[in-house]
Amino acid sequence: MLQDIRKIDLTDKRVIMRADFNITLDDQGDVKDRHKVEAARATVDYVLSHPGVTLAIMSHMGRPTGPDDKSFSLAHLRDDVSAILDRPVRIACDCIGVCVSGGIEDLPDGEILLLENLRYHDGEKGNDDYFAQQLAAPFDIYINEAFSVCHRGHASVDAITRHIPSYAGIWLQGEVETLTKVRDAVDQPAVAIIGGAKIETKIPLISALEQTYSAVLVGGRTAVEAMDESLVFSEKVMLPTDFAGAEKFDIGSETVKDFVHRIAQAKTVIWNGPMGKFEERPYDKGTVAIARAIADNPDAFSVVGGGESVQALRQTGLQNHVSFVSTGGGAMLAFLANENMPGLG
Ligand code: 3PG
Repeated sequence: MLQDIRKIDLTDKRVIMRADFNITLDDQGDVKDRHKVEAARATVDYVLSHPGVTLAIMSHMGRPTGPDDKSFSLAHLRDDVSAILDRPVRIACDCIGVCVSGGIEDLPDGEILLLENLRYHDGEKGNDDYFAQQLAAPFDIYINEAFSVCHRGHASVDAITRHIPSYAGIWLQGEVETLTKVRDAVDQPAVAIIGGAKIETKIPLISALEQTYSAVLVGGRTAVEAMDESLVFSEKVMLPTDFAGAEKFDIGSETVKDFVHRIAQAKTVIWNGPMGKFEERPYDKGTVAIARAIADNPDAFSVVGGGESVQALRQTGLQNHVSFVSTGGGAMLAFLANENMPGLG
């Protein structure tokens, strides 16, 4: 694990921070989910409390086809990031080279330089050492404040740490601590709810949770795929006993009743992935019922992660009724399944 950034003096240092601003925008071009940007705020405030410090933030956004794919430009995020972090933000025209070295030279005190999308360069996903060296070159200190990308062996997360003194951000450390608690020191009865699509991405987690959790409740496309493929699990894994409609777009009322009952008894709850096609009524019923059941059990330590589950939680206004909202989707799954996390060092 990288060292705590609060262990060093940042006076007069040039700091590059890896955040995860991989965010969906709404029809007006505004940030739909502020959580990932808010997660960066404590570290930004900490860094900028030092005299003479310079701060640049880098992130990827989406999966652009190349640098001409301007719909993925980080410039679209500037005003929202500035409002959420409560700091003036300037955009650099690239994430390496003179756009960055020149940008930090001219940066007024207290402002942030937001670098252009890392994924405009193939070297990012390729974990390319030369690209990582270019990212690090203008700076003295690197901070990883992007837990949700730590499962990726990418240059801004992994290779860069071999070129510059590297530290962990404040949110990232808290997130690792919380997820470690629900992974290793589980208060029983512990119930995991796993939904969403792509069973192949959920199997390692389901297998890990079978060892430590009392029950693993599976819904969404994951459950449908598991049943279609006749996958066999231990008796701790509960698949739906019924679905809403012939298309199986949601779990059925019997299943909702059973899942809600189990959540009500739990002392630990983790949830990743919706129970159905929740963005389309009436197929949101199962997912909403799960969100409410978690919120209605204040005795449980509850952790919710994954973009769609967090969105469902927000839609129901229940985000402040769970113990912790993870920034990680895939990263949360990987961490809880004990998979390699290149970004954590
Ligand atoms: C996420 O949103 O889960 C992270 O930003 C990782 O994005 P990716 O799946 O495109 O690597």
